[in-house]
Amino acid sequence: MGDARLLQRAEPVKDFGGDDLRALLADMRDTMQALNGVGLAAPQIGVNLRVVIFGAQPLQQEHQGRPNPRYPDAETVPETVLINPLITPLDDKLEEAWEGCLSVPGLRGLVPRFQNIRYQGYDEYGALLDRTASGFHARVVQHECDHLNGILYPARIRDMTQFGYAETLFPGCEMRDE
Ligand code: NI
Repeated sequence: MGDARLLQRAEPVKDFGGDDLRALLADMRDTMQALNGVGLAAPQIGVNLRVVIFGAQPLQQEHQGRPNPRYPDAETVPETVLINPLITPLDDKLEEAWEGCLSVPGLRGLVPRFQNIRYQGYDEYGALLDRTASGFHARVVQHECDHLNGILYPARIRDMTQFGYAETLFPGCEMRDE
């Protein structure tokens, strides 16, 4: 947070299936795994393209001794590469939940998001992707796609008393930055 590259609108991908995109996605997957994140957008590693990846399997994480206390009821989010995304809310329902971000380490905020969305875009081979999502899955997609429009989650917090250090807000919890 504070880096100008996180505040600009990213450019659409035009070349699918090429070496550049393959290398970018490998770099993004490595970064997300190394930092134990649920999602990552290309601008977070300094690449100004409309590319996000996400995916989480909370049960598997618990089996590996890495519970996700911030999202205790989180459903599985499919491992996804989403390029040039379009998000359409399916209704007006908003819900608030705690978010963190790999670009805003150590902090958590209570962020309103659309509960039910449709998202469309392309995978890394240029094939169309068209899904509906709700709850945590929908939240992750909205958070990552915000990065492509230069928006970090603190800008969406409505009550700034609900923004702070994870270790202060949730003492004793092992928290991950995402
Ligand atoms: Ni983020």
